[in-house]
Amino acid sequence: MKALLLRMFIFRMLALASILGLLSTSLSAAEPNLPGNDLGVTNPSMSDSAGSEAMAKWARSCALCHITGEANAPVVGDTEEWQQRLQKGEAALLNNVVNGINSMPPLGYCMSCEAADFRVMIDFMAGVK
Ligand code: HEC
Repeated sequence: MKALLLRMFIFRMLALASILGLLSTSLSAAEPNLPGNDLGVTNPSMSDSAGSEAMAKWARSCALCHITGEANAPVVGDTEEWQQRLQKGEAALLNNVVNGINSMPPLGYCMSCEAADFRVMIDFMAGVK
């Protein structure tokens, strides 16, 4: 009886270990595919550290919707679509990012983002600068 319990325990540990192993390999496999790393977009503001930090935040938050156009989000690099949005003026755009608009969530899910970050992100997505 004891031996059976012990075997079940070992079996469970092995199962747990393999699940954890799977998780960590799939997580690290996803890393190089993080959007923003290989978009090939040359953005001068990305070269300074504030800009690259903003881009890292973009990859973690905004990319989720703005690469695929999830829920009709304007797609990164779709200059025509972004041109229309830019016509609202930067203040209006920033306001919509902070407060959210329709399916665009407040702050775009980036709690640590500041206005300066959002400016870099908007310029990047709109393909300006
Ligand atoms: C959950 C999906 C989602 C995430 C995450 C997201 N967005 Fe959006 N975003 C949208 C959608 C959908 C729209 C279109 C809203 C509309 O005009 O109806 C949008 C629109 C915008 C607009 C245009 C607003 C306007 O007034 O036209 C800007 C700018 C923007 N997003 C920036 C960002 C930034 C910056 C981030 C990351 C910090 C972000 N978004 C994260 C879904 C998302």
